[in-house]
Amino acid sequence: MLASKRILLIIGGGIAAYKSLDLIRRLKERGAGVIPVLTRAAEEFVTPLSVSALSGEKTYRDLFDLTDEAEMGHIQLSRSADLIVVAPTTADLMGKMASGLANDLASTLLMATDTRVLCAPAMNVRMWNHPATQRNLKQLREDGVRFVGPNEGDMACGEFGPGRMSEPLEIVAAIEAELTAGPLKGKRILVTSGPTHEPIDPVRYIANRSSGAQGTAIARALSAMGAEVIFVTGPADVQPPEGVQVVPVETAQQMSDAVDNALPVDAGVFTAAVADWRVAGVSDRKLKKSRDGLPTLEFSENPDILKRVSHLEKNRPSLVVGFAAETDNVVEHASAKRERKGCDWIVANDVSPTTGIMGGSENAVTLITGQGTEEWPRMSKDLVANRLAQKIADALSE
Ligand code: CTP
Repeated sequence: MLASKRILLIIGGGIAAYKSLDLIRRLKERGAGVIPVLTRAAEEFVTPLSVSALSGEKTYRDLFDLTDEAEMGHIQLSRSADLIVVAPTTADLMGKMASGLANDLASTLLMATDTRVLCAPAMNVRMWNHPATQRNLKQLREDGVRFVGPNEGDMACGEFGPGRMSEPLEIVAAIEAELTAGPLKGKRILVTSGPTHEPIDPVRYIANRSSGAQGTAIARALSAMGAEVIFVTGPADVQPPEGVQVVPVETAQQMSDAVDNALPVDAGVFTAAVADWRVAGVSDRKLKKSRDGLPTLEFSENPDILKRVSHLEKNRPSLVVGFAAETDNVVEHASAKRERKGCDWIVANDVSPTTGIMGGSENAVTLITGQGTEEWPRMSKDLVANRLAQKIADALSE
């Protein structure tokens, strides 16, 4: 799939640089040419010799190498590729890119290029969450830079959280998505998915039966059509698709914050079954059985994410798609919901227990738009996803 594609791989200086060696192998296996560039800091983690041996190419290392400049100047090098991949992208590289610094070969190439750039960030969780990094991330997205990861998990520094570089195969999937022409190429789409968990105390929570299957299928279909997908998911039963940016959350409030962080996007698809209420005053100790009778839970209202995004004055996606899970008068309730929430389309489905839709592999939906309603026959959730993704592609190209 990557045959005859040329990838300029900039390896930044972080412990995750060792994974970039595997990334080179995976890209070569798929027929891609890899032109490697090492920052000075990266040379502390991997050697030019191993990088050249795996890529079969010269490793570019320093801006002021006169031989390199005579053979292939940095401007030409920056434009010789189909895609520039920065893996790992350190906090330092993000800062340089966001503010336009060009004081070494890697940052100069990134400034001089007119080729698309895909970043795979890797850093300590606190560095990732730092306002400066988050500001840079927003700026870079606005500048059109694409991102894959970071993932959440145990980190080499002993901490846990977002900051781990995506695995080489995830980066390969993101590269393939970038280089494959599709009707959603260049579009950034947000998908919310799965249930939310609202804590009662440290061991109990309120949840719902959503498996996340339909949202996952939609994210996969959009990504396969070339979109950059930000997948904000509650604790779902199914694995998230590869090649999308996964943002795991638990509560409605966390989902709402993650959605804000993902903006701006071209379209938002809100498939998540968000809990409407959360328990007010979550106990920090396990509630115990008491002789005073049953406990009483007080609730407060969760943010309505779909409604809020639909009414944004700044950064409203040009297409906002909501879902309506109903058990009776499906179309009537869903049409009213479309008006109430202010979204452009609503995908209505009947989740009465007899349909087996919630948690099942099939769905029967009605698409309600400003132009009218379309009833789709019962089909697999994958087919519903493909059909919806095609509709979204058509709408965004109008
Ligand atoms: N939704 C959301 N935030 C919430 C509740 C719902 O973003 N706090 C979104 C869902 O992702 C879905 C749509 O709103 O796209 C409708 O969800 P649904 O649960 O069917 O609607 P409710 O707002 O809960 O309305 P009702 O209780 O009247 O069915």
